[in-house]
Formats: sequence, structure tokens, C-alpha cells
Amino acid sequence: MPRGVPDVPRVPDLVGDVAGILISEQQIRERVAELGAQVSTDFEGRELTLMSVLKGSLPFMADLMRAITIPVQIDLMEVSSYGGTATESSGLVRILKDLSSSIDGKHVLIVEDIIDTGLTLNYLIRYLRGKNPRSLHICTLLDKPARRLVDIPIDYLGFTIPDQFVVGYGLDYGELYRNLPFIGVLQPEVYTSA
Ligand code: PRP
Repeated sequence: MPRGVPDVPRVPDLVGDVAGILISEQQIRERVAELGAQVSTDFEGRELTLMSVLKGSLPFMADLMRAITIPVQIDLMEVSSYGGTATESSGLVRILKDLSSSIDGKHVLIVEDIIDTGLTLNYLIRYLRGKNPRSLHICTLLDKPARRLVDIPIDYLGFTIPDQFVVGYGLDYGELYRNLPFIGVLQPEVYTSA
């Protein structure tokens, strides 16, 4: 073992590994309230299902549904991209958990935490269209357009962000940092030293 090279795995530091806060708790709270109000107005009188994509969208879904003032049903899918790396998506998507109920004839709003390349949603949109929903719309908390590979029509958007690796409020690196209450930028050393 050369001198200076640690011989034990790096221990994650939940707060210390974050270089800075990109979007604060308050900014998230205010924007989610606005999105909830807009969705409530737009879908007034319609049968709406919020379909969240685990795991990253869990906090956003939990907050958004409580900011919506019309009756909604919820459903959850879990998908995972595979064949890529910890920071790069491959476009190959595996369904780990499917819908629990039929969306045939329902208005469906997909609730996502982030659209990066767009490959995950591109797959999901085609999959869900095959289930014959009455309408299919997209709500994402974050949009990172610099990395887009396929065009995705976003109906409700929280924030457009620069091409930085972000964690927190559901977003992970190596399955950690999801429980940070804000969106932070990860220290590059964390993923370059992995
Ligand atoms: C993240 C995120 C989106 C997808 C966006 O999910 O929640 O679903 O990546 O990336 P894309 O636009 O490049 O496809 P991930 O596969 O990391 O799973 P997770 O939600 O469990 O963290």
C-alpha cells in the first residue's frame, strides 16, 4: 500500500460532503406550494392519479400531494436504470415495482425528482401510454437540461438546475444523502475518490 493512500473505505459525512446548498428548504417549500396550487386548479373536477417514481421522488411526492387541494389517488412505481455508473445513466430501465392499480381512463401526473438525460422518463412515458390513461402529464422538481439526450415535455417544473451533481431531498449518491432536507451540490472528491 503506497503511503498516503487510505486502506479503509471512505466514511460518508452527510453534511460535510456537501459543497453548498443549491436550493434551500424554504425555496423547496414555497415552490412545492405553488406547484400544488397549480395542479389543483388545472385538474379541478377530474379524476387524478399522482404516480411517483421511487425512490428519489419520495419527499417531493409526500410534500406535493399535501399541497394539492383536490381529491387524488396515488400510485408508486420503482424503476432503476442499469448498466451505467453511479453518476451516469445508461438508458436501460428495469421496473422493480409496477403500478398497483389500473390507470385506464384516468388522468395521470407523473411525479419525478429530476430529469437528467430524460431516458428514464422516455421509457416510462411509453410504458404508461400503453396502459391507456386518459391523459399523461409530467411534474418534476428538478430539470437539468444540459444533459438531456431525449426531449421530454415537462408540464410542471420546480427548478432548472446547472450541470452539477446534486443530492438531498430524495436524491442520492450511492444510496446516501437522500435524507438531507435541501438540494445540495456534492463535493467532487466524494465521487472522484470512490
Ligand atoms: C433518478 C431520478 C430519475 C432518473 C433521472 O433515478 O429519480 O428517475 O434518475 O435520470 P435520467 O433522466 O438520466 O434518466 P435513479 O435511477 O437514480 O433511481 P432512484 O430514484 O432510486 O435514485
